[in-house]
Amino acid sequence: MPKLTAIVAMTPERIIGKDNDLPWRLPEDLKMFKRTTAGHPVVMGRKTWDSLGKYKPLPGRQNIVITRDESWAEEGATVIYSPEELQNTELQDEHVFVIGGAQIYQLFLPHLDELIISYVYNNYDGDTKFPDFSEHFSEYEVLETYEEFEVRRYFRTEKCNTK
Ligand SMILES: NC(=O)c1ccc[n+]([C@@H]2O[C@H](COP(=O)([O-])OP(=O)(O)OC[C@H]3O[C@@H](n4cnc5c(N)ncnc54)[C@H](OP(=O)(O)O)[C@@H]3O)[C@@H](O)[C@H]2O)c1
Repeated sequence: MPKLTAIVAMTPERIIGKDNDLPWRLPEDLKMFKRTTAGHPVVMGRKTWDSLGKYKPLPGRQNIVITRDESWAEEGATVIYSPEELQNTELQDEHVFVIGGAQIYQLFLPHLDELIISYVYNNYDGDTKFPDFSEHFSEYEVLETYEEFEVRRYFRTEKCNTK
């Protein structure tokens, strides 16, 4: 497996999405996301790909989309059907970012080396949650601080058998 980092913005209650969109507008977070993932492959669920709308494919990054639909194909997307398939995929870089959404974070959780979390201080309503990660990721450092959120890097503290 390549090095795998999940990058996500979430509230204290781990809300990450609403109506297949983000529940907030945080331009500084989008800039941080762009800076951090630039030049690296990004893996996303088919629904997150759809939610990017006119911004897809994300420029300057290999866009990898995971789906169960074997007939699915869209311009600018490399398709995979399971996390394991990443090992047989020609990657433009060996540090890959998992960019969501909830189903895909859950699916990749056993494989992740680190988490970059924009910890949004306010609570927002939403319909999509990041999985509970406390068992394997408990220690973090704060990388950046903004008015509405801080960027945390969590390290894996417990190895998973499936890794
Ligand atoms: N706050 C953040 O940082 C952040 C980041 C990303 C996304 N989001 C939000 O998250 C929400 C979307 O998340 P979501 O959980 O609904 O969707 P998702 O994880 O983006 O995509 C789900 C899709 O992934 C595919 N999939 C799921 N499990 C699979 C498996 N085991 N094998 C192969 N393919 C699989 C399926 O595609 P098919 O149906 O095509 O088979 C499924 O419908 C949106 O609201 C979005 O804005 C937030």
